[in-house]
Amino acid sequence: LNFLTPKKRSEILELLVTGLKRLEYRGYDSAGVAIDGANDKEIALIKKTGKVALLEEAIKEISEALYLNELTETHCGIAHTRWATHGIPSEVNSHPHRSDDHNSFVVVHNGILTNYKEVKVFLEHKGYKFESETDTEIIAKLIYHFYKQHPNFSFRELVENVVQQLEGAFALCFKSKFFPGECVGTRRGSPLLVGIKTKTRLATDHIPILYGKDAEKDPDHRPHGRVEIPSIPRSGSTEFEPLEDKQVEYFFASDASAIIEHTNRVIYFEDDDIAAVRNGILSIHRVRRGMDDPNHREITTLKMELQQIMKGNYDYYMQKEIFEQPESVVNTMRGRVNFETKTVVLGGIKEHIPEIKRCRRLMLIGCGTSYHSAIATRQLLEELTELPVMVELASDFLDRTTPVFRDDVCFFISQSGETADTLMALRYCKQRGALIVGITNTVGSSICRESHCGVHINAGPEIGVASTKAYTSQFISLVMFALVMSEDRLSLRKRREEIIDGLKNLQEQIRKVLSLDGKVKSLAENLFNKKSLLIMGRGFNYATCLEGALKVKELTYMHSEGIMAGELKHGPLALIDNNMPVIMIITRDPVYVKCINALQQVKSREGDPILICEEGDSETIAFASQYLEVPRTVDCLQGILTVIPMQLLSFHIAVRRGCNVDCPRNLAKSVTVE
Ligand code: G6P
Repeated sequence: LNFLTPKKRSEILELLVTGLKRLEYRGYDSAGVAIDGANDKEIALIKKTGKVALLEEAIKEISEALYLNELTETHCGIAHTRWATHGIPSEVNSHPHRSDDHNSFVVVHNGILTNYKEVKVFLEHKGYKFESETDTEIIAKLIYHFYKQHPNFSFRELVENVVQQLEGAFALCFKSKFFPGECVGTRRGSPLLVGIKTKTRLATDHIPILYGKDAEKDPDHRPHGRVEIPSIPRSGSTEFEPLEDKQVEYFFASDASAIIEHTNRVIYFEDDDIAAVRNGILSIHRVRRGMDDPNHREITTLKMELQQIMKGNYDYYMQKEIFEQPESVVNTMRGRVNFETKTVVLGGIKEHIPEIKRCRRLMLIGCGTSYHSAIATRQLLEELTELPVMVELASDFLDRTTPVFRDDVCFFISQSGETADTLMALRYCKQRGALIVGITNTVGSSICRESHCGVHINAGPEIGVASTKAYTSQFISLVMFALVMSEDRLSLRKRREEIIDGLKNLQEQIRKVLSLDGKVKSLAENLFNKKSLLIMGRGFNYATCLEGALKVKELTYMHSEGIMAGELKHGPLALIDNNMPVIMIITRDPVYVKCINALQQVKSREGDPILICEEGDSETIAFASQYLEVPRTVDCLQGILTVIPMQLLSFHIAVRRGCNVDCPRNLAKSVTVE
C-alpha cells in the first residue's frame, strides 16, 4: 500500500484483519499477518490457530512491540486465513511462511503444490531447515535461495524464477525486508486480483502487460520502466495526469469480498501474470508472449456490495454449501486436472500409483453420504482400472470380518476423517497389510494421519450436518483417481478425454442446475406433507437415488427410499398407487431404455412420477406432468448434476416442514462412536 494519507501502524493491521474477517464466511482454521517491523526492524509475523478474533487478541498482546501509533506513508502488509491441506492446523503451519529466522522473505499461498516434496529435498540438501509441514514453506525458502544467488535481481525477477519451479495450483503474495514497501503477487490455477483505490477517478480502464524478462528495462516498452495510471485531476481539467506515488493504494486478494469496502475497481489476474508494486506503481509482467496474448489487463468495476458477500446471504449453512458447489468442484480439481493436456496429477498418491496398478482389487469403504460417493463412481472405476471394485459400508465390512490381503488397496472415504466406523475399518485393513488411501476433506484428521497416502477433496469446510458439497467433491476425487489409473491406456484415450471435457464444463452446468431452485421449491410445496417419497433410477444414477433418499430422511424426517429401478418388479412396485410420490431419474445413458420400462411400469399402476431428466429430452418429458431438466454431461458424471436437485428438494421440504436444516434431530456431523 501507498497510503493516500499517512496511516498509523494500528490502522494497517486493522485493515488487514478486517480483510480476513470478510473472508470468514468461507471457513478456515488459522490466520496470520506480516507487517514491516517498526523502526526498520525485521518483518513482524503474528500467527494464530482458530478464529481471526484470536489473531486480533494476539496483536493486542504484543501491541507495544508493534509501535502501533507510528505513522507510515508507504507500507506493504500481507495476511491470510488458512484451511489446512498439508499439515494440521497449527501456528507454525499457518501463513505467512518465512524464509529464515529473520523473516527476510514472507509469503502467503492459496492452492496446493504437487511437487513440493521434490523441491523440499533439493532445499534440504542446500542446508535449509524447515519448520512446518506445509507445501508453502518451500516457496519462502526457494525465493531466499534465489536471492542469495542473484542479489541484483529485482523482487519481481526473483518471484518469476520461483514460480518456474512450482507445479500445482497457487496464488501467492510476497513481501521482503530487502524490498521494503514492495509487494509481488502471482497466480496459476488459484484466483488473484488487485483492487486499485485512488483519490481521484481513474481515467484508464486498463494496465499494459510487459512481456519478456527484461521488459521494464526496455525503453520502447515504458519510459523509466514505470506504468503510470492516469487519473482525472481534481481541478476539473480534462487532461489526464499520471497519479503520483502517494495517490494510490493497492489491495491484492484472492476474493473481492476482502477488499470491496476499499474499492470496486479491480484487475483479475490471469495464470502466470506477475504483478509487482514498486514505488507506488503497479506493473504486470509475463515471461513469454503467446500468439493471442493481449497488450493489457482490464480494470473492471465490480457491482458487488459489502452486504452481499456476508454469510447473511444464506439462511442456512446447508443452503450456502449447496450453492457453493460451482466453486467447490473447481477447488477439488484445481492444480490436478490439466484441461489443455488432458492429464490428471494427484500429488498425494502419485508415488503409489505403480503399486496400486498391481493390486488384487480396490475396496471403497465409508458411511452415509461418503459411502454413496463410492457407489456413484464404482462403475467408472471398474471400467477405467479393469480391477474388481468392492464398495462397503464400514460397519458391515467390520461385522463380516471381511477377508483383506496385502495386495488389496483400501480407500477410506470420509468428509470429517473422524467417523469411528470408517476409522476402525481402516485400522483393520492396515493391520492386514493393505495399502490405505484416505479420501477426506479434513487435513490432520485421524483418517488422514493414519493413511499411507490420500487425496484431500478440498471442498472447504462443510458445516451443515447433511453432506452436500463434500459428496460432489468426493465423487470428483474418485473420478480423478480413475483417470490417473488409466493414463497410459491408449484404448481408453477417447473415453478419458470425454470425461476430462465433462469435468471442465461442470462448473457452468452446476450453475444451471442451481437456477432450478425456484422450480424445486414449488415441487416441495406439493410434497412437504406427504408421508413417503420413493426415488428410482439405475446405472450411473442409482447413487443419486440413495443419496437423495438419505437427504430427505435426514432433513425432513419423512420416509424415503432410493430404489434400484431394476428391482422394481421384485417388490417395490407393490408400493405404487396414485397417492405414492415417486421421483425417477432418467438420463440418456446406456440404461435409458430400461429406465423407460420402469417408468411405464409405474405409470400403469397409476403412479405419476416427477422426472429428473436431460435438458431438451422432450421424448422423456412427454411421460410426466412434472419434471426437472438438468444439462447433459458424460454418463459417468451425470450423477453430479442429478443429485443437486435432490439436495435442493430435501432442503426446501425441510424448511417447509419447519425442521432444523443445519442440525437435524438425533444426528451429528461427525460420528466418533461405533
Ligand atoms: C454422519 C453424518 C453424515 C455423513 C456420515 C459419514 O452420519 O451425519 O452426513 O455422511 O456421518 O461422515 P464422514 O465424515 O465420514 O463422511
